[in-house]
Amino acid sequence: MKPTIFITRKLPDELVAPLKEKFTVRMWDSEEVAVTKAVLREEIAQVDALWTMLSDTIDRDMLESAANLKVISNLAVGFNNIDIEAAKEKGIIVTNTPDVLTETTADLAFGLLLATARRFNSAEKDLRQGGWLSWTPMGFTGMDIHGTTLGIIGMGRIGEAVARRAKGFNMHVLYHNRNRKLETEEKYDVEYVELDDLLKQADHVVILVPFTEETKEMIGERELSLMKKTATLISVSRGGIVDEVALYDALKNETIFAAGLDVFETEPIPLRHPLLTLPNITAVPHIGSASVETRRAMMKMNVEAITDVLEGREPKDQVNSLASAR
Ligand code: DGY
Repeated sequence: MKPTIFITRKLPDELVAPLKEKFTVRMWDSEEVAVTKAVLREEIAQVDALWTMLSDTIDRDMLESAANLKVISNLAVGFNNIDIEAAKEKGIIVTNTPDVLTETTADLAFGLLLATARRFNSAEKDLRQGGWLSWTPMGFTGMDIHGTTLGIIGMGRIGEAVARRAKGFNMHVLYHNRNRKLETEEKYDVEYVELDDLLKQADHVVILVPFTEETKEMIGERELSLMKKTATLISVSRGGIVDEVALYDALKNETIFAAGLDVFETEPIPLRHPLLTLPNITAVPHIGSASVETRRAMMKMNVEAITDVLEGREPKDQVNSLASAR
């Protein structure tokens, strides 16, 4: 009997084809609508491999149903949607898709910074609604990017790629990270500071830390109150790192200038969410890595990882080393 794979979202046929040549493949039939919990639970009980999206919650309870599952390959660099400890205890390998999405995600982060600080979305909305009656001296004036100070919270691969872009805009770059990175400081001319100092000094703040117990709501009312009134906040790693209630208050009361959000506590963000009533947010639907080339490259990594595990090889990009569990 061939091993069986379940893919939790409809993916392009040509990317799934190499798996179909060797294995039995079942795939959820919608690209837009996520697999239901009930179907996921049923599949997890039967399959040898699971190809998941960042929107699928694979928690301990869900993993209880796994009987033959050997690998979960997640179409994302982040893997906070999977309980990797519970997977490890059951001997299930978890893989992700780092590196290939670094530059594309940094493009989005920097683009969102430009759009937010320069108010692209309100200006375009006004134009489409017929509000452009004449050129206006102070109409849609935003904040400069060039020559200002950028604060990057989380100096991983994407942080470095954002820092490189910032240098092209003649920005001074501060960063805060769990560990200081001397090599990065030298290579990219960035300066390490404590979180509070970064928040006080930066004109623009980009959040790039992964979502963990430590980073949950790390930017709350106190942290937002340290930021300049003219500052923008860009959030592109995971929702839940910024306290959305505190962010709403800061934007509503204009204690910060604007926020650019690619990620939200609840995704999709409910249409009635208070943040969406504010003119000073720019919101996009978690599209950090969404370029055709990058998404295809990520999918190829998932195919390779699943094939490796099912054919008895060590996959690359394993996020829960099983060595100690074996
Ligand atoms: C990831 O891969 O974790 C990103 O959030 C995708 O945009």
